[in-house]
Amino acid sequence: MATYIGLWCRLLRLPFAVTGGERHIARGRRRLLSSTGTAAATAETEHLGGEAVVAAAAEKLCTSADSEVSSRKKTFSEVQAERKEQAKRMVLINCPVKMSEKKFLQYLSLHGKIENHFFYESFGTFAVVEFSNGDSIASLQDATSIQRFRDEYPIPFKTRHFTLTLKKLSRQPDDQRLLHHHKQSTIPTSDLLQKLCRANNVSDQLNMVMDECQLTEENTKLRFLTCSLIQDIVGAYFPDSTVKPFGSSVNSFGRLGCDLDIFLDLDETKGDNTRRKTGHINMEYQMKRASSERIATQKILSVVSECIDNFGPGCVGVQKILNARVPLVKFSHQPSGFQCDLTANNRIAIRSSELLYIYGNLDSRVRALVFGVRCWDRERKITSRIPGPWITNFSLTMMVLFFLQKRNPPIIPTLGQLKNLAGAGDNHIIDGHDCTFVSDLNKIKPTENTETLDVLLNDFLEYFGNFDFSKNSINLRTGKMQNKPESSPLFIQNPFEQTLNISKNVDQTQVKRFVTLARDSAWILQQGEKGPSSHSSQPWGMAAILLAATTNDGGKSKTAARVQKSARIKNLLDSLTFNLNTQKRTFGTQA
Ligand code: GTP
Ligand code: MG
Repeated sequence: MATYIGLWCRLLRLPFAVTGGERHIARGRRRLLSSTGTAAATAETEHLGGEAVVAAAAEKLCTSADSEVSSRKKTFSEVQAERKEQAKRMVLINCPVKMSEKKFLQYLSLHGKIENHFFYESFGTFAVVEFSNGDSIASLQDATSIQRFRDEYPIPFKTRHFTLTLKKLSRQPDDQRLLHHHKQSTIPTSDLLQKLCRANNVSDQLNMVMDECQLTEENTKLRFLTCSLIQDIVGAYFPDSTVKPFGSSVNSFGRLGCDLDIFLDLDETKGDNTRRKTGHINMEYQMKRASSERIATQKILSVVSECIDNFGPGCVGVQKILNARVPLVKFSHQPSGFQCDLTANNRIAIRSSELLYIYGNLDSRVRALVFGVRCWDRERKITSRIPGPWITNFSLTMMVLFFLQKRNPPIIPTLGQLKNLAGAGDNHIIDGHDCTFVSDLNKIKPTENTETLDVLLNDFLEYFGNFDFSKNSINLRTGKMQNKPESSPLFIQNPFEQTLNISKNVDQTQVKRFVTLARDSAWILQQGEKGPSSHSSQPWGMAAILLAATTNDGGKSKTAARVQKSARIKNLLDSLTFNLNTQKRTFGTQA
């Protein structure tokens, strides 16, 4: 059988190592020939002499088939459903560092039309390939062999994650080209600072931060593909379950490099509780039972973590954290580079993600301000990747949203107002908590507020620099400050589980640091360095507050801050001058 496929590949001048069954290739060929797509027939056409068809197909592959631009804004559920369906048609391929992209596509086109593809670098070079039709994956799997080593035994769990190797004999010069990799991480801070210095105003700077940091289309696809691959594993036990991303991967505030929060939805498996009665007969499933939902979740997550650990290619460092308030499984998915947190029965978090998605898509200033503030807090070490008493990105996002609710006129509505706009299908009561709000963005009236991001950033810093955290709590449901119901240093009411505080972990020291930093940064913004002016390479605006010196004295020592700031600015200036000179030299050499 391998001979047959080998012969076919030789006929097509394909250099890839392929094995598989005669039956399989016959099936693959049938699919190929019956496919309506041009790329599917490409390989065969090409072997008959039509190089141009390959080029045309490859060009088509690069056009985005999943453009979300439309006059009507899509709902969160619509976007999620589309991306989930798309991910089911994708495969992940570990590739050689250098190879011919054209031949790669030719080979894969044997299995069906390719809708889209891209390469990226993680622990090696990877390709994500999206077929037009999910059947192509079965065809590719049929034609794929299992690599055997002398001292290791493969666990024959077949996934959509492959390794492609080049046959030595057929390597040609054009196989040796480096592939174009899509970026999966943000630019270094020093590069970002240089860019910010070249902006026209603070609004531009905030938009620049967002453009540099936000998730790319490719990174989002990779996140959905990773969930889809995990779903394949979990589906072996719970075929009706779904695995979906939540948190910043989908709420429109995700930054390149953020973790991948994964939700295992078992509700389909549980089914609805209405008994299906037929006449006098009632049928019920025989099921093992646990003494509480929490214990059931812990048992399920325990098994799922074992499956991921033992059978999930590229899943490493699997940790069960089952005694947490929300039990979870942590692991690294090496091929994508994502740090994953898998939870189950966490439906309220999905509603939080949808709420944030709505806010993020109502007005372009919302995301720009959130990205800017999160970047500022990350650089100034207010937030941290390590769990602890720090303010989290989630809490920080809530603070920005609250601030925007309090503008005059408000830039975004309160949760209460979103609830009033809810239609019949929007009613959600989860574990007794009211999670109802409108899902159709088009029903929400745009704001009449026209303030610039320059004003908003400055006012945000002043607002929280003077916020009385000792007395007041933040409530997004009403858009109002309220007396704190308990003594936590920072109290941000959970919008759905209304007695809970989402920032309960934060201690007094961190609140003080935040207030000090907000005051100092507001002061720096107001020091006349709001624009590039005559010193275009001097840090100003966002760049200045990202660099500013930290003081721990409640903002009293502005002189000290100014002195330290001057020193930092001088250092940055030196580095900018050095970089500019280096660039000049480099260009000079090239010319
Ligand atoms: P980053 O991962 O830091 O980019 O932001 P994130 O929004 O994804 O936060 P995180 O990964 O910490 O949490 C994922 C999601 O869980 C959040 O978006 C929220 O929906 C939810 N979540 C996180 N922390 C809390 C909390 O303290 N209370 C509640 N109710 N939900 C939380
Ligand atoms: Mg997250």
